[in-house]
Amino acid sequence: MSRRRKIAIAAGVLVVVAVVLGVLIKRFMDRNRAPMYADIQEHFKYGSIGTEKRLGVPAPLFDLFPVMFADLLPQDRPGQGYEKLGFLYEPGHKRPIGTTVREMPVEIVGLNCAACHTGTMRDKPGGERRLLLGAPANNFNIEGYFLFILAIAEDPRFTTERLLEGIERQDPDFGTLDRLIYRYVVLPQVEKAFKGFVTQYAWLKQHPPFGPGRVDTFNPYKVYHHLAMDDSIGTADFPALYNQKPRIGMHLHWDGNNDVVEERNISAAIGAGAEPSSLDIPQMMRIRDWTLTVQGPAFPADRIDHDRATRGEAIWRAQCADCHAFGGKKVGQVTPVGDVGTDAERERSFTAELADKQNTLGTGYPWKLSHFRKTGGYANAPLDRVWLRSPYLHNGSVPTLRALLFPDERPAQFYRAYDVYDFDNAGYVSNGPEAEKLGWKYDTTVRGNTNRGHRYGTELPADQKLDLIEYLKTL
Ligand code: HEC
Ligand code: HEC
Repeated sequence: MSRRRKIAIAAGVLVVVAVVLGVLIKRFMDRNRAPMYADIQEHFKYGSIGTEKRLGVPAPLFDLFPVMFADLLPQDRPGQGYEKLGFLYEPGHKRPIGTTVREMPVEIVGLNCAACHTGTMRDKPGGERRLLLGAPANNFNIEGYFLFILAIAEDPRFTTERLLEGIERQDPDFGTLDRLIYRYVVLPQVEKAFKGFVTQYAWLKQHPPFGPGRVDTFNPYKVYHHLAMDDSIGTADFPALYNQKPRIGMHLHWDGNNDVVEERNISAAIGAGAEPSSLDIPQMMRIRDWTLTVQGPAFPADRIDHDRATRGEAIWRAQCADCHAFGGKKVGQVTPVGDVGTDAERERSFTAELADKQNTLGTGYPWKLSHFRKTGGYANAPLDRVWLRSPYLHNGSVPTLRALLFPDERPAQFYRAYDVYDFDNAGYVSNGPEAEKLGWKYDTTVRGNTNRGHRYGTELPADQKLDLIEYLKTL
């Protein structure tokens, strides 16, 4: 074979190898896949809806953080690792409920609906913990999770070398190629993103803490849309997402700012870290379909005084049903803040300017949002399964239904995120030594946390209020 010929063949082989490599690299870089769980409840708990893109954390780092930076987790909370932030673990799962994994191209961990919409309950101290899919996430401290990430970003141990060392110690399968990809591509991106979070979320530290079970829903969107941050406190209690079908067309969210279920879901996913381009619409629709009919568990019938409940129903019809029963004249509409009289901060946090920006989300996509509006009040929401939504009101400032109806008993301070249930007064137990030890202290004197207003029914004779409480348990 002539020398020239040999060179030509060698060059040809090189080209083929380069093309094949190029194709493989491109295929790797374009990788965008997540496990699909056939069972909708599994998908709700662990399935991706596309939130990994903006706020996701590469899986080896997500797993490393609570070990390497254990000292940056809240030390006064029960449990181990992420449990200290109220994440819930199930046997047989490496990561907690509400976390997802997507390969894009490396494995990124994101949050899904279940993080904020899965609660727990115990019948008595030491009793078995019951998982409530779709109930408010009474334990989850999402602000704690963000603050943990911010603290890591500013920690001197947050260096490429230390992180690689930690990952390798933790995962013997982490190979040379992984190491190269992490050193030169992934970790530089993570460092840049985390440093960005430190400035984007600096406002969090100026605001009162959310504590478990709550999040400032809309102020983060001001960062997202590059609007100026104002001083409003938008902290809201996680609601339940049961039984959405009869809610179609209602103005919901605590301030009733959107009357389309799909738009509320999409905006939630974007709030949790999705970009319009990364949303997994088919999986979102599966979750939506599930929420249309999923029902929360009923209050234990043997713990209801049925004679009282029967009398209570008449009071409900007269005093509450217009605003809170399916079919009520005003249900799904908004009561002005001045009339309902509850804390005004959450309403104030959602501005007309922000509504306009929210209505630009998804421009160019078939699902583009268009129904956000400023309302000036709070929504008259249906109260089905209201027993599971303690603490009550949009800021979670009233621990039990009894305290809502007996305003003198609304405590100035109480403990949230203790999951033993008080079946007499309807709400989680919020005081006593164990609640103080395991719970998180909520202070109603803090801005955004006041427990005033909603005086409906409070003037009734005490006996009728007790009847009404028994009826509310049956909803
Ligand atoms: C970061 C926590 C978080 C995540 C993640 C989240 N939500 Fe929510 N969700 C909330 C909060 C807080 C509200 C109340 C918002 C407000 O009005 O301030 C809410 C409201 C809702 C409501 C309206 C309830 C009502 O009656 O007003 C529905 C339905 C809902 N979410 C479904 C979903 C779905 C579906 C997903 C996943 C695509 C999701 N949420 C993800 C926190 C979250
Ligand atoms: C004029 C309309 C209106 C009437 C009448 C009314 N409510 Fe409400 N209710 C509201 C609004 C608005 C909210 C939300 C206020 C907030 O969270 O700041 C609310 C919130 C609630 C909540 C808290 C729900 C949750 O998820 O935390 C309960 C419980 C409740 N109402 C019970 C009652 C009962 C019982 C009656 C009758 C005695 C009643 N309401 C009468 C408008 C009304």
